Amino acid sequence: MPVLCVNVDHVATIRQARLGIEPDPVTAAAMCELAGAAGIIMHLREDRRHVQDRDINLISQTIQTDFHFEMAATEEMQQIALRIKPATVCLVPEKREELTTEGGLNCIGQEKRLIEYLAPLHEQGIGSSFFIDADPDQIKASKAIGAEYVEIHTGHFADAKTRIDQKNELSRIIDGIKLCQDLGLKVNLGHGLNYTNILDFAEVPGICEYSIGHSIMARAIYLGIDRAVRDMLKLIRTFVN
Ligand code: PXP
Repeated sequence: MPVLCVNVDHVATIRQARLGIEPDPVTAAAMCELAGAAGIIMHLREDRRHVQDRDINLISQTIQTDFHFEMAATEEMQQIALRIKPATVCLVPEKREELTTEGGLNCIGQEKRLIEYLAPLHEQGIGSSFFIDADPDQIKASKAIGAEYVEIHTGHFADAKTRIDQKNELSRIIDGIKLCQDLGLKVNLGHGLNYTNILDFAEVPGICEYSIGHSIMARAIYLGIDRAVRDMLKLIRTFVN
């Protein structure tokens, strides 16, 4: 059965609106775990716009499930990952002007650099994943780099304005998932997934993990974190393996 990992960046976003101490993503992470999340995800951005170094230090020391560290493939983030030793790093592209991660990582032509970049992390037993679009060439490049996991970007599907565009994006993702599986890559999905659109993946076999933040934290504002995580888990637990 696929598992749910919760991204708690959005809690840090609210805290940073006042540059204060609440709400605390560290507390939110513990509550997500208590509600049944299989892992916690945080993205420490180069500009520190939401998550702070203190957050990843504390979360990596206190959570009892897996910590998945989203990061750009920079020297600084490599050093941080080597220090905090997350279960996995998920390499994402990062642009200062974007609201959130907008597109997948470009792995094509970067194979040698990324193999070298990840080598010290792999030596420390840290797993790796690439956040990529469902593009056959990106999937093949991820395989060539030696990824164990890829996270297929579901944001274009989630943002599609018409049912036809959404269907086209969905079939692109499903073809991408099949290609990953044929190549022996494990597949996670994330970005823009919510309590409605996730149902489109209910019959798709072999998805390892859903990485979800915004929709869970949006529901948590009304119903609380515990209920928001449990509601998502209830859906995912009805999905095929
Ligand atoms: N996966 C990646 C790589 C992301 O950058 C994000 C957004 O922080 C997510 C998943 C979660 O997306 P959302 O907050 O839309 O659920």
